[in-house]
Amino acid sequence: MFFPSKTVSALTTDHKRLRTEMKIIRNIENTMHERKNAFERLVPNLYSHSHREENVIYNYLKTLSEKLPQALAFKGIEEHLIVDQLLTEMNATMNSPERWSAQAVVLCDLIESHVNEEEASVFHLLKKHLNATTDAELCRKYESNVITRKQTNDTTEESFDKKISPPAPFLKPIDPHPLTL
Ligand SMILES: [Fe+2]
Ligand SMILES: [Fe+2]
Repeated sequence: MFFPSKTVSALTTDHKRLRTEMKIIRNIENTMHERKNAFERLVPNLYSHSHREENVIYNYLKTLSEKLPQALAFKGIEEHLIVDQLLTEMNATMNSPERWSAQAVVLCDLIESHVNEEEASVFHLLKKHLNATTDAELCRKYESNVITRKQTNDTTEESFDKKISPPAPFLKPIDPHPLTL
């Protein structure tokens, strides 16, 4: 039975934030400054969302006995890895503005395709399998990770996400073509 899932609502809110920044990044009519600023806002939000999704949502799907939820969880993780690899390359190479622009558009295309599929398949499965109690618990875990990420001395069960920190390039994006000197 489908119901208004809090978990799906929280995930949808995060996807909307990503889409807002990707709309700016994708638009080649925007200045590079606007696009790179949006990129720097996107990366930490994307990183936080993806890891909480893996730790809470995908791990939940893996516990279900059906093959489809498990397959979708593993597929989602692989897609996150591909996005991570492209992000690492974008930060590591001395790209021309033209190449950065192309990579940024490809990155957004990958993310857009991924979140569209999550909304069509993963969200549908969550609504199908969760009940009010499990939905509230999953949502609490997903949202509590946002708080515990900031609590570096916290060793409680919910603080597992604090052990995951973005690789250095994600924390300090390297800009080979600084816009202001
Ligand atoms: Fe995802
Ligand atoms: Fe997602």
